[in-house]
Amino acid sequence: MAAKYSLIFIIHRRLGDHTPKRCSRYTAGRKCCINPAMIITIDGPAGSGKSTAARQLAKALGVAHLDTGATYRAVTLAALRAGIDLEDERALTDLAGRIDLRLEYDNSGELRVILDGQDVSREIRTAEVADNSHYVACSTGVREVLVAMQRRVGAELAAESGGVVAEGRDQGSVVFPDADVKFYLDASCEVRAKRRCDEMPEADYEQVLRAIRTRDERDSTRAVAPLIKPDGAVVIDTTDMNIEEVTAELLRQVRSAQ
Ligand code: DC
Repeated sequence: MAAKYSLIFIIHRRLGDHTPKRCSRYTAGRKCCINPAMIITIDGPAGSGKSTAARQLAKALGVAHLDTGATYRAVTLAALRAGIDLEDERALTDLAGRIDLRLEYDNSGELRVILDGQDVSREIRTAEVADNSHYVACSTGVREVLVAMQRRVGAELAAESGGVVAEGRDQGSVVFPDADVKFYLDASCEVRAKRRCDEMPEADYEQVLRAIRTRDERDSTRAVAPLIKPDGAVVIDTTDMNIEEVTAELLRQVRSAQ
C-alpha cells in the first residue's frame, strides 16, 4: 500500500539568508556555513541530551532539524486513537500506510506534526504516547514505512536548507549509513533519570530510573533497528557535560570534519 506521507517546507523563513544560495558568505562553488547538503546524524538513548543538542546544532549551523522520534510518536497516537491492538503488527503497518502525516516548520523553526490534517505536536508528547511508542518502534512494517519517509524528508530538507541534523535511534546505522558526520550521545542512567526529573518536578526519581533502564533494554535488544553505536560515529559521553558544552563539542567536530 502506498504511504501517504508528505512534507511541507516552511523553512525558508526560518533559515533566512542561511540557505547556501542565499548566504552572504556563499560564493559559487565555495562552502558557506557547512558543506552543501551535509547530513549529520545523532543517535542515543532517552535522556542523553540528543534532542536539545540536535536542535541547537542545527540552529548554530543554520540547517534543518529532523526529529524522527516524532514520526514514531505520531503513528502511536494514531493507533491509540483508532483503538488498534498495539501488538497487532499487521494492523499497525496498515495504519502507518494509511495515515496522512506531515512535518511542518513554523516561522520560528518549531516542528509541527500534522496527523490527518490536525496539529498533534502537543498530543504526541504525552506520557501515554511515550509509554506505548515501543510497540510501534518494534514493528518491522511501520519502520519500513517511516525509514523511507525519513530518507526522503531528510534528503529534501538537506537539499533545501544546505544540510540536516537527523536525530533518533537508527539514523547513523540504518537511515543514513553514509551520513557525513555521525554522533552517538550517551550518559549514565542516573544522570539521564535526573535530567528527566528536572523537566518533570513531580516525577519520582526511582520510578524514572527504572523506566529508563527498561527503555534502554528494549531499544538495544529489539530485533529490528536496535539502538547501537553506528559505524564511524563519534561517541560523546554527556554525563558530566551541560547542553552548551555538548553543542559546542558537536559543532567543533562538524567543523573539523569539513
Ligand atoms: O526520541 P523519542 O522519545 O521521541 O522516541 C519516541 C519513540 O520512537 C521511542 O520509543 C523510540 C522510538 N524511536 C525509534 O525507534 N527510532 C528512531 N529513529 C526514533 C525514535
